[in-house]
Amino acid sequence: MKVVTCIAPVNIAVIKYWGKRDEDLILPINDSISATLSMDHMCAKTTIMCSPDFEDSKFWLNGVEQSLESKRLVNCLQEIKRLASAEPSNAEMLRWNIRICSENNFPTAAGLASSAAGYACLVTALANLYGVKTDLSALARRGSGSACRSIYGGWVQWHMGCNPDGSDSIARVIEPSIHWPEMRILVLVVNDARKKYSSTTGMNRSVATSDLIKHRACNVVPKRVTEMREAIKTKDFNKFAEITMKDSNQFHAIALDTHPPCVYMNDTSHAISDMIHAYNEHKGVNKVAYTFDAGPNACLYLLESEVAEVLSLINECFPSTVAKSDYLRGIPLNIEKSSDDLKFAMNLQVNEPNLLKYIIYTKVGEGAQVLDGDHLLTMVGLPK
Ligand code: DP6
Repeated sequence: MKVVTCIAPVNIAVIKYWGKRDEDLILPINDSISATLSMDHMCAKTTIMCSPDFEDSKFWLNGVEQSLESKRLVNCLQEIKRLASAEPSNAEMLRWNIRICSENNFPTAAGLASSAAGYACLVTALANLYGVKTDLSALARRGSGSACRSIYGGWVQWHMGCNPDGSDSIARVIEPSIHWPEMRILVLVVNDARKKYSSTTGMNRSVATSDLIKHRACNVVPKRVTEMREAIKTKDFNKFAEITMKDSNQFHAIALDTHPPCVYMNDTSHAISDMIHAYNEHKGVNKVAYTFDAGPNACLYLLESEVAEVLSLINECFPSTVAKSDYLRGIPLNIEKSSDDLKFAMNLQVNEPNLLKYIIYTKVGEGAQVLDGDHLLTMVGLPK
């Protein structure tokens, strides 16, 4: 019997991945860049066990049994087993059935990049179980494109590559998490009841129907990637924020240029973006950057020195009746400062209460890791 448990982080792109050139290998049409978020507040955890005594293979996600037939899961498993079979001593173990148990420590329903953390975790656990020592980002990519960036900590670039077999479509660290220690992230989870199109469905439809997406991939992203790498390396927040916001907006413009359109941001998302622009204008320089993925939630990048003021501004503009302990999650923080004056100076409106579900305050963190014990499965391969 063998057992491995891993944890893996969420990542939030500042240059978005949107569009594939190969659906099966999950090869993108442009490079992307993200920051990996601390696993203290959001992470996936996976235990994988294999044993000659298991009569079948099983997979549980957040306590619910799942099929093991999903194409992406099969692709990840097959690829790792293929690599593992190069080592003759693995032959017997590769015939054993496996049990996989996976959990997220944040609500999947919040639409917060759970598949990225989930696949990065699964692949790290599988590779450790079978002793596979290759670049794990290319393996995680087979589960979900953005998962390749969650293998590593800090600031990460997914290089689209050009080989048809995808061998050079891998993630690489631009700078480790300690490079910009003041960087913080506020995840604003927005209340929303609309039906969602998954990223996979949305980006396939964009590639098939949007003209803008070609212009973005060929003419915009290559230059932006160079500028973004430079802004990160030199810790130029003003430039970093400008590119981050422009790139988020271009991605959503492409989502709208898709036919039929994919509408991911809602009125609350737009109200958040307006508030951030008003704040940056008031300060005369970009102090906060917003970015939105395939949903209405906002991720704000800002330096630690701005957090108390920006949070109190958010609380003024987006009042909430939710108990404070439930509302502000993540890094503990006491906001005593009122931003009432600021709100008036900026001529901002107070929105109706409870447009936001909760806020997660976090920072840039490390990549996927193997844990020493703390398994999610019992010795007989059932969820604890
Ligand atoms: C908007 O990685 O979820 O979050 O590869 O089809 O699984 P698949 O898509 P996925 O797409 C993420 C898109 C995004 C932007 C990003 O994270 O770069």
